[in-house]
Amino acid sequence: MSWGLKNRLSRIIRPKDGHTVMLAVDHGYFLGPTRGLECIAESIVPLAPYADTLMLTRGILRSDIPNTIDTPVVLRVSGANSVLDDDLSNETIITDIDDVIRLNAAGMALSIFVGSPHQHQTIANLAKLIDLGERYGIPVIAVTAVGKDMVRDARYLALATRIAAEMGAHIVKTYYVEDDFERITSTCPVPVVMAGGKKLPEREALEMTFNAMARGASGVDMGRNIFQSDSPLGMIQAVNAVVHMGASVDDAFTIYMDEKKATGARAAAGAASDADDTRKI
Ligand code: 5RP
Repeated sequence: MSWGLKNRLSRIIRPKDGHTVMLAVDHGYFLGPTRGLECIAESIVPLAPYADTLMLTRGILRSDIPNTIDTPVVLRVSGANSVLDDDLSNETIITDIDDVIRLNAAGMALSIFVGSPHQHQTIANLAKLIDLGERYGIPVIAVTAVGKDMVRDARYLALATRIAAEMGAHIVKTYYVEDDFERITSTCPVPVVMAGGKKLPEREALEMTFNAMARGASGVDMGRNIFQSDSPLGMIQAVNAVVHMGASVDDAFTIYMDEKKATGARAAAGAASDADDTRKI
């Protein structure tokens, strides 16, 4: 592994503990304006200090993220399809490596759809991207996207995850399953990060994070369970505490609740001071 690739990898996965909190906000690449991501400059930028990296498309990076940000970025570089198509697996590489370098990305993320109609195309996309990543020292995160007809169980996810690692992916992102998650993490030779999946009640999302970490994940690449929470700032701090400090579910839930209350109090104080200001006019 080249020095540059190792250095970029260490900007995604903290060398101190080998763990990472990736904040995934790339959903619009096929879903359009997802709830919570309507204005990323407002909803996501304040969360960035609690994330090890932001995962997003180049379009949103340019339009919504200040170029002074400290948080490294991982670019979503596969796509060219939409939720309106029945077969989401028909993806290609959508961002040239030159632009990935110009945008100073710490990594590139691409989906593979094992078992879907375009599985060959997406696995070949991954192999090609890894060749480019190795050439220029940029790590590749393979996302094991699950086609509509596939069963999301440990057997399937272990297959998809291992194929991604065999292609040379530096990190693999996959889903959590209650039954035999260890089968996925123990047969993948590179770090596995957990996607959050659909929005759950906050405590359940923290339990899932805790269990994934206890069962071999290196961190999360989580989206909706953070940005669709009633306290995104509380949730990202709580997830961060589980991933990096080994916080218990109870302690993490307290962090979430405390921040939710503090945010509410700040909002109320702001509203009161605005009301005061209008009385002066
Ligand atoms: C889609 C993705 C998304 O980034 C990922 O699924 C988002 O995370 P979450 O499921 O936690 O909202 O890679 O293929």
